Amino acid sequence: MIFKNASVVFPDGVRKADIRTEGGIIAEIAPRIAGKDAIDLEGLTVFPGFIDMHVHLREPGFEKKEDIESGCRAAVKGGVTQLCCMPNTNPVTDNKVVVTYILARAKQVGLCKVHPVGAITKGQEGKELAAIGAMKAAGAVALSEDGKSVENSKIMSLAMQYASDFGLICLCHCEDKGLVDGGVCNEGYYSTLTGLKGSIRAAEDIMIAREICLAESLSLPVHICHVSTCSGVQLIREAKARGVRVTAETCPHYFTLTDEAIAEFDTNTKVNPPLREEKDRLAVIEGLKDGTLDCIVTDHAPHHADDKNVEYNLAAFGISGLETSFALSYTMLVKGGHLTLSGLADRMSAAPARILSLPGGSIAVGQPADLAVADLNEEWTIDPAGFVSKGKNTPFAGRKVFGRIKYTVVDGEIKYEEKRL
Ligand code: DOR
Ligand code: ZN
Ligand code: ZN
Repeated sequence: MIFKNASVVFPDGVRKADIRTEGGIIAEIAPRIAGKDAIDLEGLTVFPGFIDMHVHLREPGFEKKEDIESGCRAAVKGGVTQLCCMPNTNPVTDNKVVVTYILARAKQVGLCKVHPVGAITKGQEGKELAAIGAMKAAGAVALSEDGKSVENSKIMSLAMQYASDFGLICLCHCEDKGLVDGGVCNEGYYSTLTGLKGSIRAAEDIMIAREICLAESLSLPVHICHVSTCSGVQLIREAKARGVRVTAETCPHYFTLTDEAIAEFDTNTKVNPPLREEKDRLAVIEGLKDGTLDCIVTDHAPHHADDKNVEYNLAAFGISGLETSFALSYTMLVKGGHLTLSGLADRMSAAPARILSLPGGSIAVGQPADLAVADLNEEWTIDPAGFVSKGKNTPFAGRKVFGRIKYTVVDGEIKYEEKRL
């Protein structure tokens, strides 16, 4: 297949080029490539397929919220060609059977590449380590207790060591449960205004600091999930500066929204960690600019209306993010003047590939032909009614954004074409 006449986002800049794929690999990149099976992308921009290393696909167990098929459809609609799915399923993904099941089902679905993340402890109960070696052998690419932290620091330190022995990294959801104490939002002006119970930044920062301390003491790598606080960004920046092998991610809602959004009690704004304040939002953007925050993930957390159409205190935490991540990121970060297109491709594709040692993540000869083709000039309005994800829970309904995915190509095959939706 030949993709012609597009602007191509390379690590060192954007250039017009044709791309020829063969056997699922990028075989040739040149100013002009002749041949049949050509598709004209004049006016469009080709990114390396996005790698979203933090997604909840909900299957097995919570198919009412999402399943592997609907989640993968949402992924390719968002330009995502590879994703990692979190283990807070039912049963928990804490053994090779569930890992094998997810991989088999994802292969049947045949849309994007799915990489299971195994739980750190059995049943995510924080007591006993899960079968780490067996999960790795079955295809798990990382470990996480996502949804909570591993409270016991001894167990967490053992987890980091076992993970490392098997070539895996721990993806750490950072939350001090005692300090959160049932909080549903950020503690500040808006928690006072609404009367909702808030939690302070330290509830997140303490666990970020602990994971950094463990990684530093053990000389092992660690990855911090969904950073939302200015102080968390600073902890990671300082740790990196002294050589700690810490990497980190954030999500579009942390650089586009603040806790002002909770004022109307819209449960779609309820997310964990919570939306913070303007200085946090700005610090997250600064972190993405200077590389303190390595990558952008969605923390795609689809929920059924039944889980959200309730009082704020009772609603589930989470935002359905796969179908809006690229447009929000492009609009806020590139049009906002904070990142170049190559910088955005690094945060959304190359960095996750580096952190997890996955193939792909950049456009070069010999790489998998995983591409996201976007019209950067198209402005559109986010409308959850049009989501293909089962999770319609977004706080961005009605928001105008730029950047529309037109095609998503996985291993050289078109897996999403907007016109055919
Ligand atoms: O908002 C969130 N939703 N944060 C998490 O840590 C878990 C996730 C979920 O599974 O719904
Ligand atoms: Zn989490
Ligand atoms: Zn998550």
